[in-house]
Amino acid sequence: MGSITITVNRNGVFKKYTVPEHITVLEALEYINSNYGEGILYRSSCRSGQCGSCAMTINGEPRLACKTKVEDGMVVEPLEGFNVVEDLIVDRSPYYKKIQDLRNYLHCEGDKTNLKITPKDIKEFKSVRNCIDCLCCLSKCPARRFSQYPGPTFMRQLTRFAFDPRDEGDRDKEAYFENLHNCTTCAKCVEVCPKEIDIVHRAIERLRELAFKKGYYLRNHLIVRENILKGNRSVKKERGSFLEEVKEEYIADKEKMRLAFFTGCLVDYRLQDVGRSAIKVLNAHGISVVIPKDQVCCGSPLLRTGQRDLAEKLKRKNLKVFNNLDVDGVVTVCAGCGSTLKRDYREREFQVMDITEVLDKVPIEYKPLDIKVTYHDPCHLRRGQGIYLEPRRILKRIPKLELIEMEIPDQCCGAGGGVRSGKPEIANAIGRRKVRMICKTGADYVITVCPFCEYHIRDNLKKFDEEGGSLKVMNIVSLLDKVI
Ligand code: SF4
Ligand code: SF4
Ligand code: FES
Repeated sequence: MGSITITVNRNGVFKKYTVPEHITVLEALEYINSNYGEGILYRSSCRSGQCGSCAMTINGEPRLACKTKVEDGMVVEPLEGFNVVEDLIVDRSPYYKKIQDLRNYLHCEGDKTNLKITPKDIKEFKSVRNCIDCLCCLSKCPARRFSQYPGPTFMRQLTRFAFDPRDEGDRDKEAYFENLHNCTTCAKCVEVCPKEIDIVHRAIERLRELAFKKGYYLRNHLIVRENILKGNRSVKKERGSFLEEVKEEYIADKEKMRLAFFTGCLVDYRLQDVGRSAIKVLNAHGISVVIPKDQVCCGSPLLRTGQRDLAEKLKRKNLKVFNNLDVDGVVTVCAGCGSTLKRDYREREFQVMDITEVLDKVPIEYKPLDIKVTYHDPCHLRRGQGIYLEPRRILKRIPKLELIEMEIPDQCCGAGGGVRSGKPEIANAIGRRKVRMICKTGADYVITVCPFCEYHIRDNLKKFDEEGGSLKVMNIVSLLDKVI
């Protein structure tokens, strides 16, 4: 058996050790202690991914040491987001204190004989009960880090009780006052959860829906609702409408594909340039573009804020428009619209593709562009749709363009989940960290695919760029418009 080197962060001192390959991090720590005479402290119990005690930060991500294989150059650190007690042991007491405060038991008083749970209830919420208390989700949650938000697993636990017919507590109200609306729905908690619990869709959105019905919502989320009720768009019309300005069809020379363009609210009412560029770029790639004029908001801002009732109406309108078109699919230029159409439009009869997925499939030669860029992964594209290689491949095809990766390209910018509209101060606190990371790269531009991220990062660059605003944000289609 060969050997590899791993580094362990021991109270701020990074020490290198040679360990055998193909073993787990937990086995490596045991090996180091017995072969180097070290006494590295860490927690473990079940050794099989069941107790959650061995969570630590491994190569920057929260992972279970007993389920992670060692790799050469791996860095093992205590779980980020908690105070370190010693070596790899973190203080879990704030977690236990909080879970106790939330009354982590069925809350029912008086006669309990009529309160029954059915197999259907059990099945419905089985997944949110699978938690092993590893705290990985808390470790990386941006809302927890930048606000008085307890974190994803608490919302998961409140959901568990909220939907248990035996529980008489007002769990949605409790969640609301525990800052349920601080979550950006970035899905980092879902990505790192070893039990694959979909906290965003199974907990946060369900709790927000219950809370909304009882009148616990943020005032600005009602404004979004009013905008949609008045004009089918989540934002107010200011400088005209993209849909009113464009033709119904843009045919490409030597057509390779024919796609319907789902514009989204921001392209229609705010970022019309992005829409115009998208048509030009798609045509240059040999893709004909069909633009149905009666399309409406996809419903994402409503779904993310618990307003499913109205979102369902929008969905029905869009399905009527897009289900019967003579096209090869529907293309989106907004990460939020794309993930909503893919995930929440279950009845759709069409394929949905993000513009980067499409352009990557039918590459063309681009003109050189001598600039330095960094790329921001929108949460709803990276984690919502699993798309992160495609935009990078596209950028790398532009001669002379230099792509410099920032420290954590897929870290949330703070805009999503109704946080930018509902709690801008939190969106900006999260965005500020993103801006620092972007500016550190020394790039000329930060490129993204989502108009919501674009808008928010642009705003935050104006507020927080200490270099004086030389770095600009640009949508990937606006960039491609320059090189076709
Ligand atoms: S989706 Fe993001 S902000 Fe919301 S709870 Fe999960 S990690 Fe935190
Ligand atoms: S929800 Fe998942 S990541 Fe969070 S504590 Fe439970 S098992 Fe761990
Ligand atoms: S030791 Fe129990 S989950 Fe790793």
